[in-house]
Amino acid sequence: MSLVVEKAESGYDRNPILTGVSVRVDPGELVAVVGSNGAGKTTLVRTIVGQLALRSGSVTLEGADVSSLATHKRAKQGLMMVPEGRKLFPRLTVGENIALGRRAAGKRATGEDPVEALLEAFPVVKERWGQQASLLSGGEQQMVALTRAVAARPSYLLLDEPSLGLSPLKTLDVFRLIELIRERTGAGVLLVEQMADQALAAADRAYVLEHGRISMEGDAAELRASDEVRRAYLGAA
Ligand SMILES: Nc1ncnc2c1ncn2[C@@H]1O[C@H](COP(=O)(O)OP(=O)(O)O)[C@@H](O)[C@H]1O
Ligand SMILES: [Mg+2]
Repeated sequence: MSLVVEKAESGYDRNPILTGVSVRVDPGELVAVVGSNGAGKTTLVRTIVGQLALRSGSVTLEGADVSSLATHKRAKQGLMMVPEGRKLFPRLTVGENIALGRRAAGKRATGEDPVEALLEAFPVVKERWGQQASLLSGGEQQMVALTRAVAARPSYLLLDEPSLGLSPLKTLDVFRLIELIRERTGAGVLLVEQMADQALAAADRAYVLEHGRISMEGDAAELRASDEVRRAYLGAA
């Protein structure tokens, strides 16, 4: 049982962007999709959650084809994303944002609440609990967005470029939180990133997305060590 994307094709108006993308995330796995600006990362995430229609191919969730389901119905089945640019409710407090995530969990809220473990490990979110979300730094907002997503109890979580606009140090923090999320929730995580080095360091498996197609895939550590990836994405000579 997994999240399986098979030969996905999608795009905007007459422009095809994804041309046959296949990726797979197993439960509890942290999978990275790395690619440069404009490669189609956001298009892929939006296609998987159903914000963008598939022109061909399929998205399967735990064996059931969800390709024609609306985004909110896919979310009800546990497939969720944290969009590029976080998208918190800026005028609500941190606590209110996270409460909305909890409300979205509905019947999926069984067993131990994973949010508590995250708050304990990253107390900065708790310290900001009563503050308006828009007043937080980019890194803090990303942590709140991730915590809110976890509160909704996803079984598969898609993260669209969580490092966007963050310093390398803050990015490391955010990626540590992502690793903790995988560990504490057992959710399958698809981490879509331009920061290839850090994403590959965190992930189990990875894909390289180039011009709307997968050019390489495999064990994340092996990809990170490969000459091709080092030359193209890690600034190696
Ligand atoms: N709303 C849109 N309308 C038309 N073209 C778009 C739109 N969004 C993205 N694109 C184009 O699709 C391609 C992939 O974009 P995107 O998926 O955002 O890449 P990434 O997230 O990897 O930076 C780019 O060429 C971009 O210009
Ligand atoms: Mg993007």
